[in-house]
Amino acid sequence: MNEVKLFSPATVANVSCGFDVLGFCLDAIGDEMIIRKTVEKGIKITKIEGYDLPFEVEKNVAGVSALALYHDANPDCGFEIEIYKYIKPGSGVGSSSASAAGSVFGMNVLLGNPYSALELTAFAMKGEAVASQCEHADNIAPALFGGFTLVKSLDPLEVLQIPTPADLFAVVIHPQIEIKTADARKILPETISLKNAITQWSNVGSLIHGLHTNDYELISRSLNDVVVEPFRSQLIPGFESIKKAALESGALGTGISGSGPSVFNLCKSEATALKVEQSIRDTYKTQEIPFEIYVSKINLDGIKQIN
Ligand code: HSE
Repeated sequence: MNEVKLFSPATVANVSCGFDVLGFCLDAIGDEMIIRKTVEKGIKITKIEGYDLPFEVEKNVAGVSALALYHDANPDCGFEIEIYKYIKPGSGVGSSSASAAGSVFGMNVLLGNPYSALELTAFAMKGEAVASQCEHADNIAPALFGGFTLVKSLDPLEVLQIPTPADLFAVVIHPQIEIKTADARKILPETISLKNAITQWSNVGSLIHGLHTNDYELISRSLNDVVVEPFRSQLIPGFESIKKAALESGALGTGISGSGPSVFNLCKSEATALKVEQSIRDTYKTQEIPFEIYVSKINLDGIKQIN
């Protein structure tokens, strides 16, 4: 096999209380990529459609993660990368992670799968760091593993796969403004109070327990972020109105997706998710900001080959 075409999914990082550690994978939106073996050695980005991103390998997140794998594997071939971007950069649903994960996933397939998903996560983090100016894996891990993931530690890298209750659906609204992850990180405080830390780690623990035991009520009561949301929600026009509309229509919880501006809602059942979607649509129409909204199952497979 000399070429692989793949779907690289969007992801929701943080999941309210789990800043930088929790994430889940979507299936309603993602990029497509084609990775091709070449006789000429090295990495080349030969096509980018959808958004204006750098073709220089060292400046492109897919290129940087590809180089990390390439230098480690030292294969006797090169690779060409084509990127068809559907996830808008700066939208908060893991656009850079989809690119970073896609190149290494495709190269791994073409090399006969020598690397594990965890090793691919480590390579992809190098690319992600170009976009957010720091290494974190809470978008990359769910993109590569699927479902819910918890990044237990970065050094050594350890990722836990958390079970997904069968009836869980996500509604994600993307107001069409751009928030750069690096900027959204700069506004966060260096320290937090012990009181807030206690609330936050109690919520992370109970959210994980709720996911393990299919306890939708507990999941709902755990989707609460007292550390990051109070700061970042100010960057998202109408955040509180989205949350109010979603919760009144039966969402289990609402929070900022990654560093925003997208906002995610978790719901029990597709019927509730569709109700929540309509209610957010009606509310956000008054904001005069164009938006897109997706209803998505939780994607249990993660990134996948589509040819
Ligand atoms: N955990 C990261 C953040 C995800 O919230 O800054 C954004 O890519």
